[in-house]
Amino acid sequence: MKMKTRLHRAILWLWAASAYSGFAIAHQSADPQFSIRSPGKTLTLSRSQLLKRSDLEKIVLFDTPTYPKQRIEFWAVPVFHLFEGIKLDPEGTIEFRCLDGFSAPISPSRLLEHTPGRSVAYLAIEKESTPWPAVHPEKSPETAGPFFVIWKNPELSHIGVEEWPFQITEFEVKGSLRSSFPKIFPPERFKEQSQEVRGFHTFQKWCFSCHKINQQGLSDFGPDLNWPKSPTEYFNEKALKEYIRNPQSLRHWKNDRMRGFSPDELPDAELTDLIKYLKAMAASRR
Ligand code: HEC
Repeated sequence: MKMKTRLHRAILWLWAASAYSGFAIAHQSADPQFSIRSPGKTLTLSRSQLLKRSDLEKIVLFDTPTYPKQRIEFWAVPVFHLFEGIKLDPEGTIEFRCLDGFSAPISPSRLLEHTPGRSVAYLAIEKESTPWPAVHPEKSPETAGPFFVIWKNPELSHIGVEEWPFQITEFEVKGSLRSSFPKIFPPERFKEQSQEVRGFHTFQKWCFSCHKINQQGLSDFGPDLNWPKSPTEYFNEKALKEYIRNPQSLRHWKNDRMRGFSPDELPDAELTDLIKYLKAMAASRR
């Protein structure tokens, strides 16, 4: 009886371990799936469905960034075909996501390009019967599959190394920044060339990856910079600038996580604009 319980536990544990590792699941799955997620709609396609499509093509490529100096035969469908019927916001973005959870943006105009004389993106599908070679054979047997973005005539549009994502599981269509995060935008009365709007661009470039504004944003790594209060309301401008240049010069503890921004990456004029933006947001807080 005891023995049986133990065995049972071990099986449960194994089951849980594989369920928690998306990677293991996706690789074990006999018919892996690829999704295109967009606001309000998710299109899911299995490998077997994709391999049955009438627009499936054989594309032979030599010397791709993933398989340098190798000639590989791919079965693939044009990415722009997969996006037929999916609404794209003109200012929206597309992100790809990989088996290990990594995700990054990819240019929608390049991904969906299909005018003659330009490179065209394809979703390559690995056949179970004829797997592609391992990507890092010295380290692991993993291939670029089950799904891999490849390009027909990559030289035409100068496709870069980072534009060949492999082991991908989905494309996610995102709305424009304004539709996703309207409350981070400075009030309409500030024109494109104003210091406030320029400061907003600087904020997006250097700060938005860690800080929210008005509870909207990508990350909670650092505190919200406008809600409930803005640092422009409790730091004087000189101290705030010092803090952004070198947080540790103002306050110091062992576990602080914000790095400083030197004048090389964030010139004085841009820092001043950035503070104008933060002040405008504080003044218009709803
Ligand atoms: C890598 C993430 C990261 C980036 C990028 C970042 N910060 Fe921070 N920031 C933090 C964290 C985390 C804190 C909290 C203090 C700490 O742990 O260092 C913080 C604290 C602050 C504070 C102090 C707020 C308070 O009330 O104590 C200000 C002001 C600030 N950041 C402004 C900025 C600005 C402006 C930028 C862009 C130029 C920026 N941060 C970029 C992570 C970041």
